[in-house]
Amino acid sequence: MKRLLAMSAAAMMAATAMAAPEVGTPAKSDSLSLLSPDKRIELNFYLTDKGEPFYSLKFNGQSVIDDSRLGFEIRHEGGVSDIQPFMNGWETKETNTVLRPSQMREGFILDSSARTTVDYTWETVWGEESHIRDHHNELAVYLRQPMSAAFGTETDGDRTIVIRFRLFNDGLGFRYEFPKQNTLGYFIVRNELTEFTFHEDLTTFWIAGDYDSNEFIHETSPMSRIAALYPDFDRSGNACICPMPVPGVQTPVMFKRDGGGLYVNIHEAALVNFPAMQLEVQDAGEGRTKFVSHLVPDALGNRGHVQTPQTTPWRTIIVTDNAPAILESRLILNLNEPCAIEDTDWIRPQKFAGVWWQMFAPGRGTWSYTNEPNVQLGITDYTKTTPNGTHAANTENVKKYIDFAAANNIQGVLVEGWNQGWEDWFGQFKEFVFDFLTPYPDFDVVELREYAKSKGVQLVMHHETSGSTLNYERYLDRAYQFMKDNNYSVVKSGYVGPIIPRGAHHYDQSTVNHFLHCIRRAADYEIMIDAHEPVRPTGLHRTWPNYLAAESARGTEFESSDAIGNPPEHTTILPFTRIMGGPMDYTPGIFQQDMKYYDENAKGHIHTTLVKQLALYVVLYSPLQMVADLPENYERFPDAFTFIRNVPTDWDYTKVLEAEPGDYITTARKAKGEDKWYIGAITDENARTAVIDFSKLPLTKGKKYSATIYADGEDASWDENPQSYKISETLITSDSKLEIPLARSGGVAIELR
Ligand code: NOJ
Ligand code: CA
Repeated sequence: MKRLLAMSAAAMMAATAMAAPEVGTPAKSDSLSLLSPDKRIELNFYLTDKGEPFYSLKFNGQSVIDDSRLGFEIRHEGGVSDIQPFMNGWETKETNTVLRPSQMREGFILDSSARTTVDYTWETVWGEESHIRDHHNELAVYLRQPMSAAFGTETDGDRTIVIRFRLFNDGLGFRYEFPKQNTLGYFIVRNELTEFTFHEDLTTFWIAGDYDSNEFIHETSPMSRIAALYPDFDRSGNACICPMPVPGVQTPVMFKRDGGGLYVNIHEAALVNFPAMQLEVQDAGEGRTKFVSHLVPDALGNRGHVQTPQTTPWRTIIVTDNAPAILESRLILNLNEPCAIEDTDWIRPQKFAGVWWQMFAPGRGTWSYTNEPNVQLGITDYTKTTPNGTHAANTENVKKYIDFAAANNIQGVLVEGWNQGWEDWFGQFKEFVFDFLTPYPDFDVVELREYAKSKGVQLVMHHETSGSTLNYERYLDRAYQFMKDNNYSVVKSGYVGPIIPRGAHHYDQSTVNHFLHCIRRAADYEIMIDAHEPVRPTGLHRTWPNYLAAESARGTEFESSDAIGNPPEHTTILPFTRIMGGPMDYTPGIFQQDMKYYDENAKGHIHTTLVKQLALYVVLYSPLQMVADLPENYERFPDAFTFIRNVPTDWDYTKVLEAEPGDYITTARKAKGEDKWYIGAITDENARTAVIDFSKLPLTKGKKYSATIYADGEDASWDENPQSYKISETLITSDSKLEIPLARSGGVAIELR
C-alpha cells in the first residue's frame, strides 16, 4: 500500500514537472491569479512596466501580503562554458572584474505559464498522522530576461527562470527554479530580494536573526516594533552567536491579528544546498511592515553558490483563520520530496533515557573523565591521568540506566561523555576535539553492548562535534561503522560553538550541506539522527525519515542553571515557530523542578508543574522523546511516571482542540495502530480551564473508553508547588466533554483506552 501511494505521488510530481507551458498566455505587465482549491486564498503574480516580478496574497478577499518583490541580485559571468574564469578569480569583492554584478530583479518578460492541480494522499513512515493529503493548485511562470537587461550592458542572449507557486487551502509555497542554459551556468547569490509585505500590523512571535544560534526566548510584539526592540534582544547563555547585522527575525515566525481571525506563519520547506532564509524587517510605508529574505552568508559574504539546474527551497506562507489550523497544517511536509529511503523498516520512533540530565543537575556528574586541562586527541594517554571521580559515563552507571529503560518501556539509552576529549572540548575553537571512536578508560564498549542487548535496549550514541564539521566529516564513516558494530542505531549529534572551517556559520550553505550529508550517510548505515544545534528543520524528514528530531531551539537544558530558564509561555509558542519545520528534541519529563534539591545555592528551576511535563509528550510532537530526568526522580513519583511509560511516539491522527500562540495548547492524538488516545493540554503563566470536547474526535461511536487523568493538584503552580498532582479515572464516550483546571504554567495529560 505504501509503495502504491508513493508511486502515484511520484507520478503526480512527474506530471507536474512536465506540464507544457500554455501558449499565448498574457504578455508583459499582465497579471496572473491562482486560487486555492477551496477558493479562499488568492495569489496574484505580475510584472511591473520595468519587468519586475511581484506577488500578493489575499485570504477571504482581504489582503494579507500586499505587493511584494521577487528576485535576486547575483554575480555571474554568463554560461556553462565559463568555468575557466571562475577558476581564475574567486575574489568576490566589488572590484572583481571576472564575476560581474548582474541582477534578476527587473527586465523580465513573461514567456508563458502553466497550471496544474494535484490531489493525492501519501503515507508517512512516522508522524502526527499516518496519511497526509496533498491538495493544491499550481502556477508556474516562465520568465525570460534579456542579458542586456541582466548586466545593463550590450550582451547577447536571454536567460530564463521559473517561479513555481503552489496554493493549498492553508497557504502558499513558492520557489525559484534556474533551468540549465548556456546563459546561466554558475552564479553567486549576493541577495535574495523576496519580500513579504504585510497589509496589517500583526502581533509577532519572533526570535532575532542570528547566523549561529536559535536557542533564544521568544519576543512578542507588533511587527512594527521589531526593529526598535532588536538591539536589546537577549542572546545570553548561548555558546556561539552571530547576530544578523540589521534588524530581523528567524523563521518559522508566527503572526496573529489581535483578537484572532487571522494567523500567518512564514518559513521555508526543503532547505537543500542553499543558505537558511532569515528575514530583515523594513518599513514599507503607510504604517506597513515588510520582511525581506536575508540569506545567511558564508565566510566570503556570499549567500549561495548555484550551478544550474537548481531550485531554491520553498518559501512558505501559511494563512488560516484559527490557531489550531496552523498547528494542523501539513503544507511544509507536502512541499518536500517523497521518501528517498527504499526500505524504512529499521526506522523506529522511540523514547530514550540517558546519562544526560545528570550533567545538568548541579553536582551530579561531568562529561569529562579528568580535571586536567589541555588534552590532545590521539596524544593524551588517559590511563596516566587522574580521574576526577565525577565522570558519569562509566560502565556501572550506564548499566543502571539500561536497567531503568528495560523496566519502563523505554527503547534507548543515550550516553554522553563516553569518548575522550571532553576536558577542553568547548571554548578553544579547537579543530581536532573528538574522534568519535575512543572511549574513556572507565567506559567498556563491549561489555555495555552485550549488557544492552541482553536487556533488549538500544544504545544511543553521542557525537558532539563542538562545531568542527570538518573534523566530524573526517571520521564520519568510521564513527557510523563503530555504531553499527556496537549496537547503536540512533546518534545524537551536537554542534556547540563556532563552526570549523573557521568563518563558516551554522546556517550557511556549506554547513546546511554538512547536516544533510550526515543524514544521507547515516541512512546508508541504517542510523537515525537527533541533531542538536543544526539548522532548524524544514520538513526534510519526509524525504529522510531517519532524521528523527533536532533541537534548534531553546530546550530544557536552559532550565538547569539560571533563574530565567524557559519562561512558562515558551512551550506554548514553540509548536507555532520552531516545530512547524519538524520534530524537536525538547527533552521533557523533568519531575524535580527546583535545582535547590541538588544544591542549596542552585538557581535553576523548571518553569512548569510536574503535570505540564507529562503533557509536553503530547503537545510537543516528536518521534523521539527523551525521558530526561534522573531515574531516581521517577521512582519518587511512580504513579505519575506511568503516563510517560505508556505514552507512544507515533500517531495515526492528530487534532488540536484549542490553541493560542503564547497562551495555551490542547492536543489530542490517536496512537498508531491502536484505539488509544492521548491528550495533552498546557498553559502559560496564567491558570486556565482546558476544555476537552470529545465530540470533536473520531472516537468509536457507542464505545466507552476508560480514561486516566493526570491533573495539577488544587494547590499546584510552577513556582510554589510544582509537584502537586492528582490522578483520577473516568469513562469517556464520544459525547463527553471535560473541563479541567490547569495551574499557573500547569497542564493536564489524559490516557484513553
Ligand atoms: C548541547 C546540547 O543541546 C546538549 O543536549 C548536550 O548535552 C551538550 N550540548 C553537550 O553535547
Ligand atoms: Ca543546545
